[in-house]
Amino acid sequence: MVAKAEFIKSSVNVDQCPSHDKPEYAFIGRSNVGKSSLINMITARKNLAKTSSKPGKTQLINHFCIDDAWYLVDLPGYGWSKVSKKTRATWGPMIEKYLLERKNLACLFVLLDTRLEPQSIDYDFIEWLGEKQIPFALIFTKADKQSANQNAKILAVHKRQLKLVWEYLPEIFISSSVDHRGRSEVLEYISSINQDWSNDKY
Ligand code: GTP
Ligand code: MG
Repeated sequence: MVAKAEFIKSSVNVDQCPSHDKPEYAFIGRSNVGKSSLINMITARKNLAKTSSKPGKTQLINHFCIDDAWYLVDLPGYGWSKVSKKTRATWGPMIEKYLLERKNLACLFVLLDTRLEPQSIDYDFIEWLGEKQIPFALIFTKADKQSANQNAKILAVHKRQLKLVWEYLPEIFISSSVDHRGRSEVLEYISSINQDWSNDKY
């Protein structure tokens, strides 16, 4: 389903990003939640995006071009306390500016760990996306780490929480980079947005 996946560049700010001529899908979420692993899983490439068991691995805006037609973007994680204050002070504005100014951002995938009940750091961020009208979808990661029952339970808590703020639930995916759950669903979702994009709905 993904014939070609190539690393394009790492950018320190939105002005350095590649030209905005293709629809773009970025992955964001807390450090260590599994953003880079998910990009590898979706593209079926082992080491396209760099992963690590230590939080704070991804530090720049990394563009990958898929099938010469769309971009995947690996972003640094938020909420990692061990990063120095100075580094954190530059990351925040870098990501914020990217999210606010990137014209071709078709959807931002916000990743949440399936094992965790709603956390204010994620929910504050999601509310901010709503305020700024940035299109997003949720991907729950690491679903292989606990039982289907536990996953369903946490998901129900999240849906209740989301309904307090949102009239309509956002698109929600459950994923695992280990057993590849969610891959075809996310790819299909991207492909449907790409279709709208090429039909000039944006
Ligand atoms: P930063 O770049 O530091 O923000 O982290 P990240 O969100 O890109 O996380 P990364 O993909 O580097 O994964 C972090 C750790 O979680 C690694 O040790 C991965 O192997 C592990 N991991 C990621 N996804 C999964 C998953 O679906 N299942 C399991 N069991 N482990 C996962
Ligand atoms: Mg990463």
